[in-house]
Amino acid sequence: MGKAPEEQELAVGSARKSNEGGRAMGLPNDTYQQETGPTFSSLKNPLPVRRFLLMKISKHRIIEKTISWLRFGFLSLTIAGFSSGGMAAEEAGEDEQLTALITGANRGLGLAFAEKFMEAGYHVIGTARKPEEATELKEAGAEIMALDVTDDKQIEALAKKLAGRKIDLLINNAGIFPKSNDRETMMKTYSVNTLGPYFLSEALIENLKLSPAPKIVNVSSQLGQLTNGQGWAGGYAFSKAALNMVTRNLHSSHRNEGMMVISIHPGHNKTDMGGDGAPLDPAHTAAKLAELVENLTPDHSGKFFLYSGQELDW
Ligand SMILES: NC(=O)c1ccc[n+]([C@@H]2O[C@H](COP(=O)([O-])OP(=O)(O)OC[C@H]3O[C@@H](n4cnc5c(N)ncnc54)[C@H](OP(=O)(O)O)[C@@H]3O)[C@@H](O)[C@H]2O)c1
Repeated sequence: MGKAPEEQELAVGSARKSNEGGRAMGLPNDTYQQETGPTFSSLKNPLPVRRFLLMKISKHRIIEKTISWLRFGFLSLTIAGFSSGGMAAEEAGEDEQLTALITGANRGLGLAFAEKFMEAGYHVIGTARKPEEATELKEAGAEIMALDVTDDKQIEALAKKLAGRKIDLLINNAGIFPKSNDRETMMKTYSVNTLGPYFLSEALIENLKLSPAPKIVNVSSQLGQLTNGQGWAGGYAFSKAALNMVTRNLHSSHRNEGMMVISIHPGHNKTDMGGDGAPLDPAHTAAKLAELVENLTPDHSGKFFLYSGQELDW
């Protein structure tokens, strides 16, 4: 009998061993070109040395000069070492903390993701439609920003507020599961579940590009699967199938910028959407997702995973 999905070895963890970085993904070589310093021949300048040797000065003067130069050199190197070390520490301090932006973080899976990534040391920006009511998110210590993912003006305002700030991880989590399947409701579902993640990702692309390893996680669903799909849930399933295409599109458009974009199925969780009878606890799902995110490499970009790391068919 096969293992339960959450017990399966992290597909990303094992695949990582064979990953040779961006080249394996067919990224242009110049992305990985090594920086080259000046060559030895461009540095050496024998003239002053020769001139020095030809100088008719006493042996004593030479020894005296050598000692004073050595002293000066040692002092300069010490000062340079201290100052560059200090600068490196300062720079590292600024960039060290990873930042995650999570949509719909005021309750359900979004709140669990926010708590888990904060626990892992991330600075979390959690968005909520009503920030003043996002008390649990606030108590958890997240920075809260207002966002309705269907509102272009709010997306634009958020991007403006965040201009110049690095985002390492964007989790497009906000979603709805409507009860009816009339045209108007389906259009709204598509707007929240599919277009929201697309427009928000594009609006924050410059922030993500500031990260050395930017990641976008689109919270999709197995109900949007075409292969082995269950074929029910109407507009919700359509919107998640389309969200998976958003993942492919963002992957293709931004892989040369080092972006890693995946879709995940979080499993059936105890939330308002998933109901009390759901088998999974959001905290457990969030812990597994954090492992998956941690182990993500460019080889995994453009793919669909179970929250626990197993790759899924589209
Ligand atoms: N739970 C499951 O079993 C399950 C299974 C598969 C996939 N998923 C997916 O996982 C994600 C999270 O689901 P969940 O179970 O945590 O759902 P949930 O408990 O119903 O929470 C949904 C979150 O999305 C937010 N949201 C809804 N419409 C929004 C909009 N227009 N703009 C911004 N935020 C909006 C909600 O904010 P408000 O509080 O303001 O409404 C809430 O924070 C969804 O994408 C869902 O499709 C869940």
